[in-house]
Amino acid sequence: MDKKITLITGGGSGIGRAVCLKFIEQGHQVLIAGRSKEKLLKTQAMCADPKLCIPVEADIATTEDRQKIKDNVADSEIEFLIHNAAVLGKITKLKDMTIENWNSVLNINLDAPLFLTQTLLDQMYQSRILHISSGAAHSAIEGWGAYCASKSALHMLYKVWNKEFQNKLYFGSLRPGVVDTAMQEQLRSADRNQFPGLQKFHDLYSNNELENTNRVANFIFWVLTSTTNDQYIEKEWDIRDEFHRKNWDY
Ligand SMILES: NC(=O)c1ccc[n+]([C@@H]2O[C@H](COP(=O)([O-])OP(=O)(O)OC[C@H]3O[C@@H](n4cnc5c(N)ncnc54)[C@H](OP(=O)(O)O)[C@@H]3O)[C@@H](O)[C@H]2O)c1
Repeated sequence: MDKKITLITGGGSGIGRAVCLKFIEQGHQVLIAGRSKEKLLKTQAMCADPKLCIPVEADIATTEDRQKIKDNVADSEIEFLIHNAAVLGKITKLKDMTIENWNSVLNINLDAPLFLTQTLLDQMYQSRILHISSGAAHSAIEGWGAYCASKSALHMLYKVWNKEFQNKLYFGSLRPGVVDTAMQEQLRSADRNQFPGLQKFHDLYSNNELENTNRVANFIFWVLTSTTNDQYIEKEWDIRDEFHRKNWDY
């Protein structure tokens, strides 16, 4: 396999779109996966070189579509795999959680990254896999039970993968901050009774304090392409940490 590719789930919007544009601007070939073909094509049209972008309509929560993604990169080595796609699900307290909501969030946010990595293992050599994490992996938020549980478990998966693939594959985890995307729009429309912490997110939005997707993309690109393997896996990256900022915030 002489062709190298970067694979990004959820490349049709938000952080995934910005990361796709960044990697293509830097000359990488990128496959983006998502359920909405329209959104993926829009990302492709925005790329500096649209020929470098392969949009694949796929629901990563299904075995068939994970195989479809693999079929589209059959002749390539996967250099970077970015597990970015995720959903908040319906914001609701645990006492009102339905099994359907729970399963849907866990299937997309947790099962899909696990089994997509597994599906692609024979195309990865010294590759870097990145889990997009969240503050919600580490702090309990009322109304976000399924999302918090999924991101917390995803954080543990990155650690276990690293133990199992020492010196062969490199798994990273990264917190992008509170970012101005569709996910934030969704949570601002939540029911205050189900999500008592809602006001903080309205304030971040109205004070123009949400993180910008292009800055997140710069950060992700730097973490993936400019750190040593030991640095990459050592601990979860957080965009708010100051010590690395000079390397990517330009
Ligand atoms: N925004 C924030 O403040 C924030 C903070 C911390 C962490 N994050 C994390 O950042 C990542 C990106 O989120 P975002 O903020 O950029 O939100 P977003 O714009 O809603 O992006 C989520 C993407 O995931 C895709 N997706 C969802 N379910 C999918 C499925 N079953 N199969 C394939 N693709 C699927 C969506 O596309 P389709 O609907 O077309 O499938 C969408 O493009 C997520 O992991 C999120 O948890 C975000």
